[in-house]
Amino acid sequence: MKNPYESSQLLGEYLLFHYGSKEDLMPWISGPSNGIDFPLRTVSELIDPTTLGMGTHALDLGCAVGRSTFELASHCSKVKGIDYSASFIDAANALAEKGELPYQFREEGDLFKEAVAVVPSNQRRKVEFEVGDACSLNPALGYFDVVHAANLLCRLPDPNLLFKRLPELVKPGGQLLLTTPFTWLEEFTPRKNWLGSGDSEEELGRILSPDFELEEKREMPFVIREHRRKFQYSVSLGTRWRRLQS
Ligand SMILES: C[S@@+](CC[C@H](N)C(=O)[O-])C[C@H]1O[C@@H](n2cnc3c(N)ncnc32)[C@H](O)[C@@H]1O
Repeated sequence: MKNPYESSQLLGEYLLFHYGSKEDLMPWISGPSNGIDFPLRTVSELIDPTTLGMGTHALDLGCAVGRSTFELASHCSKVKGIDYSASFIDAANALAEKGELPYQFREEGDLFKEAVAVVPSNQRRKVEFEVGDACSLNPALGYFDVVHAANLLCRLPDPNLLFKRLPELVKPGGQLLLTTPFTWLEEFTPRKNWLGSGDSEEELGRILSPDFELEEKREMPFVIREHRRKFQYSVSLGTRWRRLQS
């Protein structure tokens, strides 16, 4: 299957989803406004800044075009963003380098609107992006005070490969910020690798509980605009887990 996250259609949708204005993302007054700023909220609403000291390092897995990675840089001194899509990482790198990136998003059919994604300079200095596979991460990646993975689990061919790696990626006492709408689709994840035979949230707890303690849980709506008259509205489960000391 061709990777949909390499298409120009999804590049425009994700740049808008991460950096677009409220008016462009949801132009209808009666539309749901609680789904705006999702890649910012998966950090700001889940991170515990009170337990982050100086010199903290964060990892953003499945970072797409990078908005959450930049947001993590407001809390940590160094952040690495990793995504499987080369075109998403090219866009994130361009933003880190230049601070802005012109893009187009669909109005309808072949009609597009121009916009510019912008990132403040204090966030740009602390980030680096690279292409990588969350199911097969470089063994020399190291370990982190914060690991963030938003809407990634149900896009992986085998989420268990990431779960096995997580205890060594998050430092003891560190934070794991996980957000997922559990949108299982066989085009991304073979059915045998979906979380649990029924309730994914229960299975998530069972898998993580030997190494992590659940500290925070909240419902996190998000809106992805396909064109000016078509939107995806979903509700992710947002959680913060604390890595146990041993
Ligand atoms: C649903 S999007 C979520 C992106 C972003 N975290 C957000 O919340 O907007 C899933 C992302 O995971 C990336 N992805 C899919 N498979 C991956 C893998 N094996 N390793 C790393 N990233 C992957 C995709 O390229 C895409 O950027």
